[in-house]
Amino acid sequence: MLSDRFGRSIDYLRVSVTDRCDLRCTYCMPKDFKGYEDPPDWLSFAEIERVVAAFARLGTSRVRLTGGEPLTRRNLPQLASRLSSLPGVGDLSLSTNGTRLARHAEALRAAGITRVNVSLDTLDRDCMTTITGRDCLPIVLQGLQAAKDAGLAPVKINMVAMRGVNDAEIDAMAAFCIEQQFVLRLIEVMPMGETGQNTAYLNLAPIQLRLAAKFGLKPQALELGGGPARYWTKQDGMASIGFITPMSQHFCATCNRVRLSVDGTLYLCLGQEVQYPLRPLLRGGAPDAELEHAIREAVELKPSEHDFGRQPEKIVRFMSQTGG
Ligand code: GTP
Ligand code: 5AD
Ligand code: SF4
Repeated sequence: MLSDRFGRSIDYLRVSVTDRCDLRCTYCMPKDFKGYEDPPDWLSFAEIERVVAAFARLGTSRVRLTGGEPLTRRNLPQLASRLSSLPGVGDLSLSTNGTRLARHAEALRAAGITRVNVSLDTLDRDCMTTITGRDCLPIVLQGLQAAKDAGLAPVKINMVAMRGVNDAEIDAMAAFCIEQQFVLRLIEVMPMGETGQNTAYLNLAPIQLRLAAKFGLKPQALELGGGPARYWTKQDGMASIGFITPMSQHFCATCNRVRLSVDGTLYLCLGQEVQYPLRPLLRGGAPDAELEHAIREAVELKPSEHDFGRQPEKIVRFMSQTGG
């Protein structure tokens, strides 16, 4: 088992397979973003597989593919097949913006991805265009339906709550998700890069109470996935809403994850700069034992909690670089 200095088990690896994206969500990526690295510096599928296999041997059973937008990486289902066949990988999932989900949902399911989390911040077509930079609401809604039809379950919807942008739509989104049997997760914006820092923050604590009263929700002890969301559920068990509150009520004490970026760097915390490069080992012929030793050494560096809000220690990298 992989444990850090604070006794937390690290059983969840988030793998960013690209830092590119076909959208430019205002809170996530700068408009003129072209990518940090040239593709030759990106890990190949074989290299990603090697790192995931090493983590799995050390006890990490959950793997989530992220980006940028992971479905912009060519042949992603092939990578998913390789990862889902690895001994020890029990939960392989994907976070996506949904624009290419209609095309790929079946292939992803066949490749061993069992569940997807899809970003959707609004049900208003113009608002969606303003947030993402593209008129993409219809294609994302088709993607959600395709995910449901392919049996990717549960389908979770990630809604970043932004004051003055989409906060008036939270109740409509909750009603839509309950009706469609999607699990809505409301997310507090994190100040990552200047895009995250310039987005109007909304504290979700009062909204949680309002939605609980309106939809008859009670806090749920069981987890729904392996992430930081805290879920509230209807009494009949037929609907849940998750709250991801890194700013108003953080969850660092139970953090179970580290992140692999597309250039082969391990990030030990989303809200800290501490990192550990694995690419030199991968490209320098290091044997498996050395790779495993490096992973243990990296996990030792994991900080106790994030540094968001403790200005001026700003996180300069954008969310898209480490995949959320
Ligand atoms: P499951 O619970 O396994 O379904 O996934 P998840 O919620 O961990 O993954 P997802 O990619 O859908 O992330 C949802 C939101 O949670 C994103 O805004 C992430 O940036 C945020 N998030 C995920 N992990 C962490 C974390 O360790 N720390 C912080 N601060 N935010 C996180
Ligand atoms: N703060 C909070 N969540 C963010 N995401 C992207 N940028 C931010 C940010 N600055 C979310 C996306 C996606 C998830 C992986 O991360 O909405 O659903
Ligand atoms: Fe792309 Fe997702 Fe970032 Fe939006 S949140 S710019 S869809 S990576």
